[in-house]
Amino acid sequence: MNNSNENNANIVKNVRNGSNNKIYFVGAGPGDPELITVKGQRLIESADLVVYAGSLVNPVLLQDIKAKKINSFGMRLEDITGVMVDALNQGKKVVRLHSGDPSLYGAIIEQINELDKHAVEVKIVPGVSSLFGSAAALGTQLTLKGVSETLIITRPAGETLAEDDLAALSRHGATMAVFLGTDKIEHIIQRVEYPPDTPVAVVYHATWEDQKIIIGTVNDIADKVKEAGLTQSAMILIGGVVDPVEYRRSHLYAPQ
Ligand SMILES: C[S@@+](CC[C@H](N)C(=O)[O-])C[C@H]1O[C@@H](n2cnc3c(N)ncnc32)[C@H](O)[C@@H]1O
Repeated sequence: MNNSNENNANIVKNVRNGSNNKIYFVGAGPGDPELITVKGQRLIESADLVVYAGSLVNPVLLQDIKAKKINSFGMRLEDITGVMVDALNQGKKVVRLHSGDPSLYGAIIEQINELDKHAVEVKIVPGVSSLFGSAAALGTQLTLKGVSETLIITRPAGETLAEDDLAALSRHGATMAVFLGTDKIEHIIQRVEYPPDTPVAVVYHATWEDQKIIIGTVNDIADKVKEAGLTQSAMILIGGVVDPVEYRRSHLYAPQ
């Protein structure tokens, strides 16, 4: 080993023995750049490298930060973790930026396990999921007394999921939030067993400037979504909470 390599190795060792062995997984929120947490914003502002999860992270969040930015769309797991580990080994501060909240369809565990092989720790900073951005856009609750106090979060079968449980899950009559299903709306609607007049909302780009809301029922929502030309980046919400006509008052605001 020549001198400079030895020095580099020592630097790496010192960095990894010190406090900089951590990568931050941050939830970017649903789209509106003001919906990232204060902690998340502080972390991306101070980062040297931000590896972000494709087009669902609003580019406005990234435009004024000093960090090098890498779009992970289409990258292999080992390449994503590889660039992050390399940067960390150079003493850089690294943020992995996920859309919404990292815990929902963010595939973070496989990244964490891969990073663990390099003795890298992960600290997760939650975010506002597009599910909550969609509920806010609709001006409704996801759990509502007398309508449904249960929320099912799921996704349809697709490229990475051979089978789904849509039929069985729908039999609970609960509010259902379907991620990753815009282009499979027909399949979803054929599979679920809600009464045909059950309200359904499809919220495209919730909280973005070009947000679109389509309201229908199990009977007609697939046609409406097709007509609107939506094929991706939408949340599908099924259940009475979408159009809450009859509900029961909670005890929250009852007179004492
Ligand atoms: C890979 S998942 C990531 C979900 C993200 N972790 C979250 O909590 O929102 C991508 C799916 O989330 C939904 N999604 C993400 N951002 C959205 C938004 N702003 N409005 C509506 N749906 C969105 C869509 O169903 C999309 O196909």
